[in-house]
Amino acid sequence: MEVKTSLLDNMIGVGDMVLIEPLSEDTFIENLRKRFDHNEIYTYIGSVVISMNPYKSLPIYTAEKVEEYRNRNFYELSPHIYALADEAYRSLRDQDKDQCILITGESGAGKTEASKFVMSYVAAVCGKGQEVNKVKEQLLQSNPVLEAFGNAKTVRNDNSSRFGKYMDIEFDFKGDPLGGVISNYLLEKSRVVKQPRGERNFHIFYQLLSGASDDTLQKLKLDRDFSKYNYLSLDSATVNGLDDAASFRTVRNAMQIVGFMEDEVQSVLELVAAVLKLGNLEFKPESRCNGFDESRIKDKNDLKEMCELLGIEQSVLERAFSYRTVEAKMEKVSTTLNVAQAYYARDALAKNLYSRLFSWLVNRINESIKAQTKSRKKVMGVLDIYGFEIFEDNSFEQFIINYCNEKLQQIFIELTLHEEQEEYIREGIEWTNIEYFNNAIICDLIENNKNGILAMLDEECLRPGTVTDETFLDKLNTVCAEHQHFESRQSKNSKFLTDHSLPHNCFRIQHYAGKVLYRVEGFVDKNNDLLYRDLSQAMYKANQSLIKILFPEGNPAKVNLKRPPTAGFQFRASVGTLMKNLLTKNPNYIRCIKPNDKKAAHIFTDSLVCHQVRYLGLMENVRVRRAGYAFRQAYEPCLERYKMLCKQTWPHWKGPAREGVEVLLKNLQVPAEEFAYGRSKIFIRNPRTLFFLEEKRRQCLEDLATLIQKIYRGWKSRTHFLLLKKSQVVVAAWYRRFAQQKKYQNIRSSALVVQSFIRGWKARKLLRELKHKKRCEEAVTTISAYWHGTQARRELKRLKEEARRKHAVAVIWAYWLGLKVRRDYRKFFRANAGKKIYDFTIQRIMQKYFMGLKKTMPSMSPVDKSWPARPYGFLDGTHQELRRVFHLWRCKKYRSQFTEEKKATYEEKLAASELFKDKKALYPSSVGQPFKGDYVEITKNPKYQKLNSLVEDKVLLADVVSKINRANGKGAPRIFLLTKKSLVLADQKTGQVKASVPLLDLSSVSVSTQSDGFFALKLKEGSTSAAKGDFLLSSDRLIEIITKLHRIGATSADRNQINIDISDEFLVQFKQDKVCVKFIQGTPKNGNGVACKRKNNRLLEVSVPSP
Ligand SMILES: Nc1ncnc2c1ncn2[C@@H]1O[C@H](COP(=O)(O)OP(=O)(O)O)[C@@H](O)[C@H]1O
Ligand SMILES: [Mg+2]
Repeated sequence: MEVKTSLLDNMIGVGDMVLIEPLSEDTFIENLRKRFDHNEIYTYIGSVVISMNPYKSLPIYTAEKVEEYRNRNFYELSPHIYALADEAYRSLRDQDKDQCILITGESGAGKTEASKFVMSYVAAVCGKGQEVNKVKEQLLQSNPVLEAFGNAKTVRNDNSSRFGKYMDIEFDFKGDPLGGVISNYLLEKSRVVKQPRGERNFHIFYQLLSGASDDTLQKLKLDRDFSKYNYLSLDSATVNGLDDAASFRTVRNAMQIVGFMEDEVQSVLELVAAVLKLGNLEFKPESRCNGFDESRIKDKNDLKEMCELLGIEQSVLERAFSYRTVEAKMEKVSTTLNVAQAYYARDALAKNLYSRLFSWLVNRINESIKAQTKSRKKVMGVLDIYGFEIFEDNSFEQFIINYCNEKLQQIFIELTLHEEQEEYIREGIEWTNIEYFNNAIICDLIENNKNGILAMLDEECLRPGTVTDETFLDKLNTVCAEHQHFESRQSKNSKFLTDHSLPHNCFRIQHYAGKVLYRVEGFVDKNNDLLYRDLSQAMYKANQSLIKILFPEGNPAKVNLKRPPTAGFQFRASVGTLMKNLLTKNPNYIRCIKPNDKKAAHIFTDSLVCHQVRYLGLMENVRVRRAGYAFRQAYEPCLERYKMLCKQTWPHWKGPAREGVEVLLKNLQVPAEEFAYGRSKIFIRNPRTLFFLEEKRRQCLEDLATLIQKIYRGWKSRTHFLLLKKSQVVVAAWYRRFAQQKKYQNIRSSALVVQSFIRGWKARKLLRELKHKKRCEEAVTTISAYWHGTQARRELKRLKEEARRKHAVAVIWAYWLGLKVRRDYRKFFRANAGKKIYDFTIQRIMQKYFMGLKKTMPSMSPVDKSWPARPYGFLDGTHQELRRVFHLWRCKKYRSQFTEEKKATYEEKLAASELFKDKKALYPSSVGQPFKGDYVEITKNPKYQKLNSLVEDKVLLADVVSKINRANGKGAPRIFLLTKKSLVLADQKTGQVKASVPLLDLSSVSVSTQSDGFFALKLKEGSTSAAKGDFLLSSDRLIEIITKLHRIGATSADRNQINIDISDEFLVQFKQDKVCVKFIQGTPKNGNGVACKRKNNRLLEVSVPSP
């Protein structure tokens, strides 16, 4: 068995009393002391927790501790109240068993604290969430409210619960808290009006006066001074370690969290204030005429204020404290109250007011915390009831409280000792009986219906006649005297007659926890719990709604003449129901022990502890536990719980459950002494065996969970895979379909293309063939057509020929006949006369035309352009033709007269025209002049004989020209001779040759466009003649000179034609200088002649008269 931590680890003493060796009272106490000294306040007896009050705060309730104990097995860690709370909570949550936590012990042993630890632990480990947290908070915050109103400082405990509280916390199936129900049991209300010495009233009075703001106190008409209030005991008004003011704020806050409205809180505080005011009412006797004293309120101020607080008419309440109405059947009798009765009435009212307020608070809290759902709930009950009390002066309250504790002890005995042993016997388990004290007998003494003390008390209270506490004691003395646990001075048991510790007005009961002496005084009254109807009716008349609710019997419409049930009866009934309730749940015990009587830490009073250990029956508890079995369970649930631990029983066991369990345990090799088979249950001796099983089960569950997970995951993955596969198939199918479709479409379109090509090709082939065929056919047709045509034409020709011949024959024949006939008959017809006349007329006209033309013929001059008009329109063509022919003839005639000489002259003229026409203004004047050539009669003039002889060739031209002086532009006459080879310049007078230039040396001639006679003869550069420079000459016969010069070049083949430049500006080379000759138009000074002027070295300006 593997347990990670154990309560055996680091153990101080023994954690579980079951393990103590040897077992005796001494070792038991010693163990408790040892642990207590080490602050180990919790010790187990099996599953029962013993809790020692440390009277100091210990660091063992932290959040870390909560986490440590959370979900751990009970014996795994050192003993702790959290382990018990966890165990209870888990069996509630996981095994669906309702739980109850029973906390018992003396007053001040730490029950209330323990109950709070349990609740806070459960709150910490159960579910979380906004709604759940609110529920938790409300459940937890109900404590401070109830403690403020229901707890008080007693000599035993500074925060003693003066009421019993049982709280059911309700959970849903998940273990989340849903809400709760609180039941309260009999508040010790006598404390409101009177507190034993060294004790206090309920906390709320002190808290209100210390903690409320001045404003609030003023509203409540209260003073902060405790001493002003009769109901507040003064000797212990302030308690060490209690901060009333802070507690008041806590209470206010808690009320708000629980859900109290602001006006509800105000009403509650008003009631608390009213109780305090009530306590201050004092009465004085006032003598009446009938001799009786009637009570009157001494100082009405407090009454007034109280009435104002509660909204009650003062006179009504005042009257209720003076008179009492007794109703019997139909009669109403009003009697006066004496002072004592008035005080009694006052206190009764105060107690009732307070206790009813307390009950209302519990109901109001229940309203807030009740579960909102109607579905089935799991319940964990926490019982924190007032502890067993033994005071110096014990009254009805202690009697009731102790009775309740007696009942709880009974339950404990029933379940842990009696029931357990009974069960072993029932189940047939071998068992040696263990003796223990069963307090059933004491319970019977108190609660027996016939002669129980409570029944006696009720009987006394209901009995007609005078009833006093003494008569009640007498009754007890007669009825219970025989009882072993009842002791009284008057009892028949003579041994008490001389017992001075037992006063006459008391009786004593031997409780399970010790003997308690009860003073009978007040038993009857307290049991009656009588409140005069006048008071409840006065309360009902109050304006304040809460008061009205608290006193419903004051409603005059609902007058109930029946006596209300007595306090004892009510309590017995409610305790009865509580016990029944507890028996239905799985009990968890916390046994609280007080280490000392001084509320002090570190003090361990052996005798006190020993006493508690004894009466709590803890030793017996250990013995039974050691002798018996720690755990039992019916076979079916046991098999169900552990069947997974063995192959044979898992998953289903067919046979009886018991055999299944046997197989299971055998299989798990649990030693035989560890368990016993009962009739219906298996008993397991040692908790460790159970933990072993639990641990195994836990592991197995983990494995199973893994298996389930595995199978589930497998299933999930498989389904997922199958789905994927299915989808994949679908996708693939679609895809293939798509691909095939596409392929098909491709193939189809390709096939169509191929097909169309083939068809096209075939068609073309066919077309070709058809065309060929057609052409052949056409050719045949054409050929035949042509052939036919040819034949037809031939035939036609032949026929035509034949016809022509026939026609010709016919015509010839006809002509022949005609001729023959005309010949024969010519002499008889003038048939040809017309033709002859026509021909004759035409002949005549033509004759006349030609004759007329002969007369009007123009001259023979080729330039004569006249020609006679035409006489007849129809001769127009002839007329023009005749003119052209005539002109050509006349020209021919004219040309035929020319001599060779004249012809040459005209050719020269023609050349001059080609050179200068429209180029030089001088030209037109030269047209009329015949080109004579020799103007100086060189051959005849003797002056020039020598000159003539010098010229070898024939002189083509001889004339006088001016040679322009290059220095001043003045001209000097020279004879200019031109032969076929050269030109010569000679002195006019002497005939002496000045210059002779072979024409070959001449490169060009420059002339102007004007009407001047200037011309420059330019020599070829480098030639012999060029040394003297170019010649600038002037002549009136310039046209003739240049034309002749040009024609020499044109006619002779050995030299080039001379270039002729016609320009108004040209350069002339004079020796070295090049001079520009520029022609301008202008009027020269010397009349109409041409003037030449040297302008500068470079310019020779010639001004020519404008035309
Ligand atoms: N576990 C504890 N740790 C510290 N102090 C405790 C513990 N239990 C009880 N006490 C002290 O003892 C006092 C009485 O405890 P309480 O639970 O009111 O007693 P009971 O309800 O049994 O009369 C508390 O006020 C507290 O001071
Ligand atoms: Mg308490």
